[in-house]
Amino acid sequence: MKADWLVDAVNVEPSSLVMTIAVWKTEYLTGDLHVDQEHQELFEMVNSLHDAILRAAPYSVVQEIFADLASHTVKHFQTEERLMQVSNYPGCDRHKQSHDGLVSKVKTLSQQLDNQTLPLSIRLTEFLAEWLAHHIQGEDQNMIRFFREQTKLYHSAGVRSSL
Ligand SMILES: [Fe+2]
Repeated sequence: MKADWLVDAVNVEPSSLVMTIAVWKTEYLTGDLHVDQEHQELFEMVNSLHDAILRAAPYSVVQEIFADLASHTVKHFQTEERLMQVSNYPGCDRHKQSHDGLVSKVKTLSQQLDNQTLPLSIRLTEFLAEWLAHHIQGEDQNMIRFFREQTKLYHSAGVRSSL
């Protein structure tokens, strides 16, 4: 008799499997629950887009997924930028420039998708997955590290002043 998990694995419909390009790794965790959750949602959306392209989904489906991904990206960048501003993060301008660079690229891609002039290729999802992984491991990790240091300083100052 097969183990339950094996029976389940064998019974999975191939059509229900999502083909992935953006593989989430524990080293992408920043320690900020909200930021980490939004990052994982972006990974899922890149994978949905990748899956739709590989399955040759209708152009309108790809447009819809991309539009969702684009609006979530903007919303997520706003989350991070608000956090950086309230914390007086010294790397705020540089980090925002990096966000602005991707937003501008995403706008161009959205226009091309609207005009149906963008060839649907996995080069699109490769680019997005690589950008996200690189940005999270660099700029985002640095940003959260700074927030943590600030919190530590805040607490140690609080402890000292109450002595
Ligand atoms: Fe960021």
